[in-house]
Amino acid sequence: MTTTLDSICSSARVIVACGTGGVGKTSVAAALGVHAARAGRKVVVITIDPARRLADAIGLDGALGNEPQKVALDTSGELWVTMLDVRETFDNLVRETSPTPERAREVMENSFYRSLSRSLSGTRDYMAAERLHGLQNDSRFDLVIVDTPPSRNALDFLESPERLARFLKHPVVRLLVAPSRGGLRFASAAMTPVLKAISSVVGSDALTGVAAFLRAFDGMETEFSRRALAVAAMLRGNDTHFVVVTAPSPDALKEADHFVSELSRLGIELRLLVANRMPPRFGSSSSTDEHLRASQSSGDEAALHSLLASMYEDAERAEAGVDAFVRRTRTTFPQVPLASATELAEDIHSMDSIGVLAHQLAVAKPQL
Ligand SMILES: Nc1ncnc2c1ncn2[C@@H]1O[C@H](COP(=O)(O)OP(=O)(O)O)[C@@H](O)[C@H]1O
Ligand SMILES: [Mg+2]
Repeated sequence: MTTTLDSICSSARVIVACGTGGVGKTSVAAALGVHAARAGRKVVVITIDPARRLADAIGLDGALGNEPQKVALDTSGELWVTMLDVRETFDNLVRETSPTPERAREVMENSFYRSLSRSLSGTRDYMAAERLHGLQNDSRFDLVIVDTPPSRNALDFLESPERLARFLKHPVVRLLVAPSRGGLRFASAAMTPVLKAISSVVGSDALTGVAAFLRAFDGMETEFSRRALAVAAMLRGNDTHFVVVTAPSPDALKEADHFVSELSRLGIELRLLVANRMPPRFGSSSSTDEHLRASQSSGDEAALHSLLASMYEDAERAEAGVDAFVRRTRTTFPQVPLASATELAEDIHSMDSIGVLAHQLAVAKPQL
């Protein structure tokens, strides 16, 4: 039987998983990767989350960096994993777009560049987009799965390429790049709102490096912008599928609502909801049946029935919370399907458990 997961994993070229921390987003991203690799695709899962959970989830011993590593898997497809390294991505971008190696060095040694590539969250977003562009154009892979960071603004990276392209086109930036032609001195340019905004983020010390940076950078911005806009178009394209991962806790469901509304604000279609960490359900009893049985029996049997009753209550509460969330979501995305997986007995630390998760997610569910 073909499931929703099959259709997503066979058609998408990019899958972006979003959700708050702890819901199992990283594990689900890896599980989707396994599922797609089983279907014959050459998948790379990239985690933008600086926490080292991806390596941990799949039971990888060594460190994970910018260079994708292949996971041993007995499938016709392939699974690779990688973790975003902001600095390395930025350096590579500078090397690739710079007209000469000397100019690349000049940019990389600039103080503003160094603070940019080290600390700014905006840079992190943009480099995530740039890395995604690189992986998408890498002939080793035909599907890129993105595990976004666990923050509320995890989707900011979607808008960062356009923001950068706009920034590079800004007249003040153009003047700084070519001060002799523009005739505007840096001191007066520094008073403009754009540079004030930059200095409020990077600090005024770094600002003095900005002009030097932009001059060294001259000519490279065309290629930067081209790539940025290509990523922006790709992220908005039909081959990019967005998945919201949640768990049945009130906090996780509230954050999932937030991601659903962010996608809607960005005009992006939501392709799949994943409810992970659901309490397992055994048999067809309900908590009411079990309470009744507990009251009718005595001793160990009564204790067993009341234990079961509380387990069923948990499962019912979780299902009710998720049902309500799915209904809310369907007011915005009427067709969005749901896949779910239960809370496994153990933490996810190996390809075996990722495989179990993949299997559960792939089972077709009757639509709620
Ligand atoms: N279905 C599941 N069953 C059991 N433990 C899970 C499940 N999904 C996630 N976990 C556990 O929850 C924690 C967070 O998982 P992770 O995939 O890192 O989530 P996120 O990326 O959303 O923070 C980990 O300890 C992981 O082992
Ligand atoms: Mg994670």
